[in-house]
Amino acid sequence: MKKTKCRKRNLDFKTKYNYKPIFGFAMNTAEFFKDFKRSFTFIALFFLYRDYIIRFTLFYFSTSCFSPMILADKDPILASLSDKFKERFGRPATFLGRAPGRLEILGNHTDYNEGTVLSVAINRSARVAAAANPDAQDGMACQLYDIKGKSARRFRLDALDRKRPRDWSNYIKGIVCEFNARGYSIPAFDMIVTGDVPLSAGMSSSAALEMAVVKVLDALSDSKLGWLEQAKIGQGSENHYVGANTGLMDQLSSLMGREGQLIYSDFRSFEVKNVPIPTGTSFVVANSNVKHNLTNEYNERREACEEAARIIGVKALRDVTPAMLEKAKSRLSDVVYRRAKHVVGEIDRVEKGSQALAAGDIKAFGELMSISHDSSRYNFENSCDELDTLVEIGRTLPGFIGARLSGGGFGGITVHLVEADAAQKYSDVLAERYLAKTGVNAQVMILTAGDGAELIRA
Ligand code: GLA
Repeated sequence: MKKTKCRKRNLDFKTKYNYKPIFGFAMNTAEFFKDFKRSFTFIALFFLYRDYIIRFTLFYFSTSCFSPMILADKDPILASLSDKFKERFGRPATFLGRAPGRLEILGNHTDYNEGTVLSVAINRSARVAAAANPDAQDGMACQLYDIKGKSARRFRLDALDRKRPRDWSNYIKGIVCEFNARGYSIPAFDMIVTGDVPLSAGMSSSAALEMAVVKVLDALSDSKLGWLEQAKIGQGSENHYVGANTGLMDQLSSLMGREGQLIYSDFRSFEVKNVPIPTGTSFVVANSNVKHNLTNEYNERREACEEAARIIGVKALRDVTPAMLEKAKSRLSDVVYRRAKHVVGEIDRVEKGSQALAAGDIKAFGELMSISHDSSRYNFENSCDELDTLVEIGRTLPGFIGARLSGGGFGGITVHLVEADAAQKYSDVLAERYLAKTGVNAQVMILTAGDGAELIRA
């Protein structure tokens, strides 16, 4: 009965428009829209749902099989990786991954103290292309190639504990171990890597690589992990394989960045929010070119924070207010007190900074950045002469709003919040004066906030 009705409707439609509908949709759109009522309904529906339609279309084209065309415009380096993979391994890649570096804007060494951070993902990324290769040597052999460093590595999935000291491949092998530890098995794979995040500079080139690798290995193993677990896999690789007892901020920022937005993250509840960057401002980033080796000093700082929390009798420094710390001062050694003072102060500054941003008070936000640097310098002692020099020069320049070291410290970068109109001149003079004072060339860049990590089917 139903079928007959439907056939009749199709026949009427055919007679009226002189063509046949397919699944209720007309194929000849010009004819179809001759019917005023239909056109009107379509247009009304489009306007009603236009946000969803646009979002879906953008999402579809950025992740679908059409993406290589779009990708060539959006990220030519990533688009070129498919060909480079084929040149190197003689077969096509199946997945491409891109993940950005990050800048820490406020909240230094607060992540592993279960505190809060304001950070951004930057418009510089690590990029990888990969494909499974289960046929290679009993399905256990993996090959890696770093295009920039022109270095190749091979390892076996059943000999992951064989580490090369201080080698880039450790980050990737550590990630495979972390997947395995969670019960996901990674097939043998080949991978090429490249990127434009400055290395060992405090912009988290390693977390960027980790997150790009996690994205493609998650797809190759069909693990379908959520963002928090993906971030923890990267952190696990650093903590358990590389041996740096770092927090989760770098990986989280690399995943959760949004163009033009800061990332506010809470490392106890794992609540993450994007907050607009104040209009009319730019981030000038100066690489002091002092290479930092996080591992020893970083781990030492973390132990001091944990000791402070233990003595005060709380789970983490997140639970300590400035007043509580002052009360406990006599029970802490001078060094442990100053380390805790930095972290407790930073957590407080992130809250005040967020309020200043919400109120549009950029000047107050900049002052908090500058206080943060001084606290690093005198309390946490993770600054160095070169970083102090960059901040001091910045303070004398037109357009300066605030500046501080960013990331682990002991070298690396300073981040300067600057009036956008003054940013280029500010950068030039900063580089000039730094060279004159230290004899070292700083790499000074104006960076913008970009989107977080993405996976693309090659
Ligand atoms: C490094 C670590 C992060 C964080 C910062 C300092 O970047 O990887 O987890 O602790 O230092 O805030």
